[in-house]
Amino acid sequence: MPSGSRKAHWALPLLIWGLTGCRAPPPNVSRGEALFDMCSLCHGRDGSGNPGLRASAIAGLPQWYIEGQLEKFRTGIRGTHPEDAPGMLMRPSAVTLSEEGDLQAVAEYVASLPPVRGNFVVLEGQAAAGATTYASVCSACHGPDATGNELLGAPPLALIDAWYMLTQLRNFKTGVRGHHPGDTWGMTMRINAEALSDDDMKDVIAYISSLR
Ligand code: HEC
Ligand code: HEC
Repeated sequence: MPSGSRKAHWALPLLIWGLTGCRAPPPNVSRGEALFDMCSLCHGRDGSGNPGLRASAIAGLPQWYIEGQLEKFRTGIRGTHPEDAPGMLMRPSAVTLSEEGDLQAVAEYVASLPPVRGNFVVLEGQAAAGATTYASVCSACHGPDATGNELLGAPPLALIDAWYMLTQLRNFKTGVRGHHPGDTWGMTMRINAEALSDDDMKDVIAYISSLR
């Protein structure tokens, strides 16, 4: 090989380094990325989730919500109910985030990932009927366009996969989620899920999915 092409091999990484070096990621993000290795086993490299493992899409969820849920899993407010197999699968990873700042760093990294629409499945619900339920009940907390409300602890449902929303609404209704006395936000959500039949849930999810 002529030496000129060898030089080219060196030149490209150097050029990339030169272009990006002045915009080095903040230290938290690289730490978060390293911690995310473990999470990617179930949630995927891009955070798009894995329905086979019942692991939800988490890419691009707001940092405050990810932190709040990781804290709930870590302390056992979520993921300890005997009928919550997916929650129990998730919990050990949150428990390992034991160093000061781990939880925030990984949450910051996940929040920085672009949301993915990969596992999007439409349920057989009636979006028109769901629209009425959404406007009269859900919208007050989750927002008219389902983008969430940090002050009320309500996540952006427009980013959440239909199959996972259905599991969670059933979990809230049966008390698999939101049963813990320390789960104030979960309890407010439970009251809303209790009023819904399975068909109501599918209808409202069909409507929410149309907002994506
Ligand atoms: C062994 C598989 C597995 C690993 C590893 C794992 N998770 Fe999970 N995670 C799950 C499952 C399954 C759920 C769904 C739980 C449920 O249905 O309530 C979940 C749920 C979540 C949720 C809640 C999402 C929501 O919308 O409420 C967050 C946030 C989350 N995981 C973040 C992480 C992070 C960050 C890591 C790495 C530190 C991680 N997970 C590692 C399986 C896993
Ligand atoms: C009083 C405010 C309030 C209302 C009204 C409300 N929610 Fe929620 N919802 C919440 C909060 C707070 C959470 C987060 C609970 C937690 O921290 O675990 C939540 C969580 C959820 C989740 C779980 C999301 C996830 O990523 O795991 C779903 C799904 C959901 N809501 C759907 C609905 C639907 C559908 C309606 C209308 C029928 C509704 N909510 C009405 C406050 C509300």
